[in-house]
Amino acid sequence: MRPLIIDTDPGVDDAFAIALAARSPEVELRALTTVFGNVPLTRTTENARRLLALCGRPDVPVAVGADRPLAHPHPMRARYAHGADGLSGHADVLPAATVPVHQHGAVALLAELLRDSSEPVTIAAIGPLTNIALLLAAYPELTPKIDRLVIMGGGLDGGNTTASAEFNIWSDPEAARRVLVEEAVPTVLVPLELTTACAVSGDWLDSLPAAGAIGTALHALIPDYRAYYQTALGRDGMVVHDVLAVAEAIRPGTLDCESLPIEVECGFGPGRGATLADRRRTELGEITPGERSREVLVAIDADRDELHRYLLAG
Ligand code: BDR
Ligand code: CA
Repeated sequence: MRPLIIDTDPGVDDAFAIALAARSPEVELRALTTVFGNVPLTRTTENARRLLALCGRPDVPVAVGADRPLAHPHPMRARYAHGADGLSGHADVLPAATVPVHQHGAVALLAELLRDSSEPVTIAAIGPLTNIALLLAAYPELTPKIDRLVIMGGGLDGGNTTASAEFNIWSDPEAARRVLVEEAVPTVLVPLELTTACAVSGDWLDSLPAAGAIGTALHALIPDYRAYYQTALGRDGMVVHDVLAVAEAIRPGTLDCESLPIEVECGFGPGRGATLADRRRTELGEITPGERSREVLVAIDADRDELHRYLLAG
């Protein structure tokens, strides 16, 4: 079984992603680490614990991470989509969070789990990248213990939070730049264009309760988030962004990828938090090889029907 840690800010789509990993026989889910994001940290942590209770996984530790970005805090959250409690106002349909939070913080637990692992560990990062940037900065000797970072974030064709920035990257651009540009960990970036193209349908959502107690609870969480996406997409359905990253973490190759150098805009203009793919060509003399940033794999396509089937079947 592939060892997996999820860094998360639940979040309705995070909830679907966690449920997928928690019941997957293909991965050993070693921890959830929480970060501020869709809602404040206390709430994302409570939601993570409740979701593990729902999935019958009290064995999975939850460690508390960053409550704000590295450098430039600001109060905007994603309440427009996830509600004030992060789960569309329906967190109470989940069981109580009985398992205590881990005695160590997120970065310390990540470091401990990487150090103690006999094999490299996959990290799925589905919130702002603050914890991951701190981990890579504080424990550079552990980067070889990371098999892959699979990140939901960015938009190469515009954003969902500003005209240019996707929410996770916009929430902490300095952290994102550290992870995506300055570090050298093998990385898969799952951007908005693909997550939106892989939205699930209303029928898919309505078949969730037939999948059992977990599907029934997830279905109970979605009405407001679904209504938001009904307006955004112009049809009944939902974009389950984070699920794509976790599906790729569980089953490498689920998503088709292109290798691209990525830059993250950290200025304070309208482009703050934008992810820019550098498509200039060295053979045309548009750029010399040393000038561009390192490449990451950007997910560009997937077999949607197969993906949707897999997400339901688990
Ligand atoms: C990302 O932002 C959050 O609202 C979602 O949980 C997802 O991680 C999509 O932009
Ligand atoms: Ca998220």
